[in-house]
Order: sequence, then structure tokens, then C-alpha cells
Amino acid sequence: MADDAALHEPDLALHVEDLTVSYHGAPVLWDIDLDIPQGVMAAIVGPNGAGKSTLIKSVLGLVRPIAGHVRLFGLPYRNARRRVGYVPQRSSVDWDFPTTALDVVTMGLYGRLGWFRRPGRREREAAMAALGEVGMQDYADRQISQLSGGQQQRVFIARALVQDADLYFLDEPMAGVDATTERAIVAILRRLRDRGRTVVVVHHDLQTVRSYFDWLVLLNVRIVAQGPVAETYTAANLRQTYGGQIALLEPGDPVPGARPAEPAPTDPRHLETMPRP
Ligand SMILES: Nc1ncnc2c1ncn2[C@@H]1O[C@H](COP(=O)(O)OP(=O)(O)O)[C@@H](O)[C@H]1O
Ligand SMILES: [Mg+2]
Repeated sequence: MADDAALHEPDLALHVEDLTVSYHGAPVLWDIDLDIPQGVMAAIVGPNGAGKSTLIKSVLGLVRPIAGHVRLFGLPYRNARRRVGYVPQRSSVDWDFPTTALDVVTMGLYGRLGWFRRPGRREREAAMAALGEVGMQDYADRQISQLSGGQQQRVFIARALVQDADLYFLDEPMAGVDATTERAIVAILRRLRDRGRTVVVVHHDLQTVRSYFDWLVLLNVRIVAQGPVAETYTAANLRQTYGGQIALLEPGDPVPGARPAEPAPTDPRHLETMPRP
């Protein structure tokens, strides 16, 4: 089906067309057209409740859209899911669930292993190596409930790394982490990008958009703007995205909005990094 592939933009890491999502009859994403090229580090930015998490979840097949379609490397998600890694928003995870850091990372391999094959020594070594990459090797046997927010976030990034994906989605990975962890996360994501991977990050901090990212998607139910950061990060676009709540964009300016209530927490063992069809 070569003509089909051509229609679906195989050169793009992500291609979204006419996507509309609603919860209980209220649209939260409206007619989204979105293209993200391969090899960029992209930020999705918008106010609380803009639909950022919902956009990622609908791309990953975790939320069912009422209209539209999504292609990853030209393929529907079910055919591309082995190439995709996901770090969910921290507040959507039940961190009290009794499981160790190493277990959480090893679960990142299940998509490859199949749920019914027990992980062996090779898998544990890969998981330990990923924990090492995020500086968490000494915490492998620690219950995740006993880790700080920043450490939990690092463990989830290790879990995505172990998947060795081509396209990563991270939902606010730098929210609520300390400056050291933030620097470590940015360095890891840059390394992925420099190796040709595509990294898509829901980002909450306008101050760092220009220094961290090379691609920007501004979202508030609809797409306000998308493209290279240098072209899209403008006062007019940001004002349109935030509804006039921000007038200035210089460092030190406050970013409006308290955090909204999140949906019910998810057992981290069952987080659908790789949803089964
Ligand atoms: N599972 C859900 N059921 C009903 N409403 C939801 C659900 N998840 C999110 N919403 C609502 O959808 C809107 C978009 O939410 P979300 O995608 O989480 O926004 P963001 O990540 O940009 O803060 C918000 O108004 C939120 O309250
Ligand atoms: Mg969100």
C-alpha cells in the first residue's frame, strides 16, 4: 500500500489530522492538525486544561477521539507502538503502589518481551543500565513510594529509555523536580535528539522554551501555532494561547494558572506505555 503510506506522511514522526476529542460531550481538543518532523525536540505548551495530556493520550490510543486520525512514521499507532516511548504526567500515577524502581524500568521492556515472558538476566541488565543513565542505579531496589518526585521522574525516564524508541512523549517531566534533575532530564533528552530520535515534551515553563526546544506547538483546545521555536515563540502567539493572561515574555515574568485536578491515579504497573490492542 505504497500510495497509502505516501498519503500518511511517513517522513513525519507525528501527523495528526482533524482530531477532535470530547469528554462527556464537551470538546477538549478541536480539529487539531499537527505535524512534527523527525529529529526535533518539541514542546507542547498551553494553559492548564488546554488539552495537552489529552492530545498525547489520543495519539497513543489511550483516549478515543470522536474524529480525526493519527499517524506515527506514517503508521497507525498499533503498527508503530514499538517505536514509541511514553512518560506520563507524574500526578496521574499512583506512587504508593508497592513496586521497586528496577521493576518499573523492567516493565518498559514488556512491549518487546510480551507480557507472558518473565524478564531474565539480560533484561535486568538493560534496566540497570538505564537506571545508570539517569543516575539512579543505587536506588534499584527502593520502593518507588520512597523516592522523591525528581527521583520518581528519573525512574520513569529510565523506563522510557530502556524501550529504545524512535519517538518519545513526556508529559511535564520537569514539573516539580529540582534544578539538578531538570538539567539531567534536559541532557538526556538532548542526547536522544542528537541521535536522531524525536522528543515531544509537554512543558509548563515558558521561560525555558527557547533554550530547551527547537520546535514548538502552542495549544489551547485548538492549535494556535506550530513550527520552529524561532518562528512560533512570539508575543502574539503566546497571548492568543493564554488568552491575554500574559503580557510579557521575558525571564522573571510569572506564568499564570494553578494546577487543575487530575483524573484518578493509575497503578504504575499497568501504565500503558505500550497499550495492547
Ligand atoms: N478523564 C477525563 N474525564 C473528563 N474530563 C477530563 C478527563 N481528562 C481531562 N479532562 C478535562 O479535559 C480538559 C483537558 O485536560 P488535559 O488534557 O489534562 O489538559 P492539560 O494537560 O493541558 O492540562 C480539562 O478541562 C480536563 O478537566
Ligand atoms: Mg496535563
